[in-house]
Amino acid sequence: FAPRHLLSIADLTSAELTSLVRNAESHKRAVKSGSVPASLFGALTGKTVAMTFNKRSTRTRVSTEAAVATLGGHPMFLGKDDIQLGVPSHTYRKHQLQTHGRPDLTVMQVNESLYDTSTVISSMVAAWVMRCGPHSDIVQVSKTSSVPIINALSDDFHPMQTVADFLTIKEAFSSSRTPQRSTTPGLGLEGLKIAWVGDANNVLFDLAIAALKLGVDLSVATPKGYEIPQRMKEIIQESGKDARLQGKLTETNLPEEAVKDADILVTDTWVSMGQEAEAKKKIKAFEGFQITNALAERGGAKPGWKFMHCLPRHPEEVADEVFYSPRSLVFPEAENRLWAAISILEGFVMNKGKIV
Ligand code: CP
Ligand code: NVA
Repeated sequence: FAPRHLLSIADLTSAELTSLVRNAESHKRAVKSGSVPASLFGALTGKTVAMTFNKRSTRTRVSTEAAVATLGGHPMFLGKDDIQLGVPSHTYRKHQLQTHGRPDLTVMQVNESLYDTSTVISSMVAAWVMRCGPHSDIVQVSKTSSVPIINALSDDFHPMQTVADFLTIKEAFSSSRTPQRSTTPGLGLEGLKIAWVGDANNVLFDLAIAALKLGVDLSVATPKGYEIPQRMKEIIQESGKDARLQGKLTETNLPEEAVKDADILVTDTWVSMGQEAEAKKKIKAFEGFQITNALAERGGAKPGWKFMHCLPRHPEEVADEVFYSPRSLVFPEAENRLWAAISILEGFVMNKGKIV
């Protein structure tokens, strides 16, 4: 039996993405009104969910641990210094042979390969939530793992964030909108416009895939030289093809152009984890891309525009006047990480990848 993994929103059909968001919303309502739905209560009792994080985290860690606990399971957090995973030992062995003429066994012992780690961890747990650097690491782990792997942020994608983001957008916008088609229940967000102003990064890529799948238009403004890579554009366009009404992706180097008629302005840090060495250069290149009230006005965002950010936030990419304003959805968006995590665990672990 090959488990189903969630490495990117591209792994979901439009209907499945819709279900994950709807289920998150309905669990949120039920739990907040004091009743854990029977299908969730104790659903992970006696089960362990491994959480290997090789980068820091507040929201993803807390929401996942809380979600597993809500379902009665045991979240096992493993930071990068807690386990033996490291540079594959054969790389070390080669390095040691080249530099010292013999392998250093102490170094080799604490650097276990992804293959060995994946085989071992997955033999003992019900699921594995992983935060890593190169996306190829999580792809490799998913090929060996005997349990579902959930991406908790890689250099390319952040699907848990995206489910929470569309729950947040649904809560803020769907009641005021008339769905364009009424036969299949969607999220009722078709025709909305998101403007992403900032770095083309992991959070954007899954947001873009989801937007296209849900009929939401997305305009992306990045400085020259920081555009969405071609291979990623192809993944985004391809995965939007199963949408009942595909959203439109447009790109520009002018923030004003992106925010024109936008309902939601979104950004993220300009310097993602792992890019610290480029910080100075990037912050300079992104001058003029800070989200401010003046930018929204100059560009002509819709009068009721809202602001979103996955957090953690840095002052460069958004001004306090926006971040702490009534337009800002950032804190409900952060809380929604919990409901998204519950919905994802339900779909991928309890229901073994059958997402309805
Ligand atoms: N948004 C997000 O993933 O935040 P953390 O890095 O704090 O988990
Ligand atoms: N783009 C950011 C997201 C953090 C949640 C990063 O990768 O560091």
